[in-house]
Amino acid sequence: MKGIILAGGKGTRLYPLTLVASKQLQAVYDKPMIYYPITSLIENGVHEFCLISSPEDLPRFEQLLRDGRQWGISIEYREQPNPEGIAQAFLIADTFIGNDPVTLVLGDNLFYGPDAFASAFEQFDGGATIFAYRVNNPEQYGVVEFDKDGRAISLEEKPVNPKSPFVVPGIYLYDNQVVEIVQNLKPSTRGELEITDVNTAYLNMDQLQVHRLERGFGWLDSGTSQSLHEAAAFVQTVEKRQGIKIGCPEEAAWRRAFINAAQIDVLIGEMPPCDYRDYLTSLRNEGVAVGAN
Ligand code: G1P
Repeated sequence: MKGIILAGGKGTRLYPLTLVASKQLQAVYDKPMIYYPITSLIENGVHEFCLISSPEDLPRFEQLLRDGRQWGISIEYREQPNPEGIAQAFLIADTFIGNDPVTLVLGDNLFYGPDAFASAFEQFDGGATIFAYRVNNPEQYGVVEFDKDGRAISLEEKPVNPKSPFVVPGIYLYDNQVVEIVQNLKPSTRGELEITDVNTAYLNMDQLQVHRLERGFGWLDSGTSQSLHEAAAFVQTVEKRQGIKIGCPEEAAWRRAFINAAQIDVLIGEMPPCDYRDYLTSLRNEGVAVGAN
């Protein structure tokens, strides 16, 4: 499965932070925001990536992530000159997608939990798979309504009166029909190609699976100063308590056997003395169980 990371938008709600670096390059505690969604996809076996961002920000992402080979993955870069909706990513990346299924993750979404997506990725066999997560402020997201048997029956983007507290996080799996669906999509009243309209198209074709994420699962986004701070505090709390890191692509790549111990040694050798290097060094000394997440 191919992986698209969308790191677009102007991040105006984070002004003045976003004057010099885009939202997805900001720190969430001890690493750049973009590390978290990339790690989630690596954990699920994705190794061919396309990163989409504005022409101004793209060079900075390339500087940070390079061609991905250091983590045993490949990363192509594509420009989104104007943010005209999340679904536009599939038009920008159509030649990257080719004939494959594709997962899209938003560059400001942070997921934490035991193997939450593993079965969805492993069992994906066509149509679309999205997730549902209970939140306090559903009106700020894509909202999914379920019938009494737990089947999804409607999707609405940022409704004033949400029909349920369940919303759709920024990680989506699609079969190859997605490109054609987006080609036929009309922009919404706010002038965007809405990801919710793509999901509704699959719902109407009876090809949409909605997995509910368990209550203990952590999903955070970081679009405002407050949510950025809360995400950082969450990461710090878990990392300090458990002595593990969330969103460490090197670790995920090693566990997935995308890279081997010798390659981890090279990466460690390139790092300045710092907490991040110490962490990888201790994993290296303990010997990570390859294949375990
Ligand atoms: C977007 C989507 C929305 C989804 C959310 C997840 O919202 O439009 O459906 O629930 O991402 O983060 P936006 O980031 O544009 O506010």
